[in-house]
Amino acid sequence: MKKLDNQVAVITGGGKGIGLGIAKIFAENGAKVVIAGRHEDTLKKACDENDGLAYVVADITKSEDIAKIVDFVKTKYQRMDILVNNAGWCPVKAITEMTIQDYDNAFDLDVRALVDMTLQSLDLLKASKGNIVNMSSVGGQHPGPNLSMYVGAKAAVENFTKAWAVELAPFGVRVNAIAPGAIETDIWKVPGLTEEEAKAHREQSEANIPMKRMGKPEEIGRAALFLVDEENAYVTGTVLTVDGGISIGA
Ligand SMILES: NC(=O)c1ccc[n+]([C@@H]2O[C@H](COP(=O)([O-])OP(=O)(O)OC[C@H]3O[C@@H](n4cnc5c(N)ncnc54)[C@H](OP(=O)(O)O)[C@@H]3O)[C@@H](O)[C@H]2O)c1
Repeated sequence: MKKLDNQVAVITGGGKGIGLGIAKIFAENGAKVVIAGRHEDTLKKACDENDGLAYVVADITKSEDIAKIVDFVKTKYQRMDILVNNAGWCPVKAITEMTIQDYDNAFDLDVRALVDMTLQSLDLLKASKGNIVNMSSVGGQHPGPNLSMYVGAKAAVENFTKAWAVELAPFGVRVNAIAPGAIETDIWKVPGLTEEEAKAHREQSEANIPMKRMGKPEEIGRAALFLVDEENAYVTGTVLTVDGGISIGA
């Protein structure tokens, strides 16, 4: 018997990066996993390369696309046990350069879509006494320079996590968050850098991490598995930091 046998998980942004790392670990542990994103080629590749995955093409900043995900899950599986609100984005700019469009872009995806996805999934999650895992960042509690829209959005994600954990406890639904440090994904591909500049950027980033390496998406997957595991049923409202030690002293 695997930990997530007979469970259905939905992961926004599950086609690549951290979302795919979580999808792989959940599927290995017996879950049926539905991944959602805007690019069908990425989603299809993830499903072709991994057993136990199905996909829905959706832009989760649109309520009607979220409804499509929830309808797909209802029709195909008649249940949802785990919702991972993973998709997120990060404008890197000083506040002096930031525009209100940057605010809208960050908060539409990192906050509004996470709330919308949660609200539309709630009946199914209440019925299964399921789990929500929200993706924050170490920036949610340790704001760094040039990331103000992102760290503002992630701070909101962490407080939603705690507020919902309290409100949903009577329904048997647990709500937790993960705060990753630097994890090897496309989010680190800063546009416009030469290969050499990108290498220097990465080395500089790794030098600041006590463990001297970036994390891997599957390492966030194992943290997510810990949070949704029924053996850890007393854990709710927590933000689990997985960052190679970088936030200590930040
Ligand atoms: N990597 C890190 O170092 C790090 C650190 C801390 C926190 N995080 C957080 O971890 C989460 C995942 O980041 P990542 O590094 O894995 O990023 P990533 O590799 O850029 O992947 C982002 C995922 O989100 C999806 N996505 C983006 N916009 C979407 C939209 N409007 N509708 C549906 N899906 C959308 C993308 O798919 P499509 O492009 O196909 O839509 C993609 O699958 C984010 O919340 C991020 O803030 C990452």
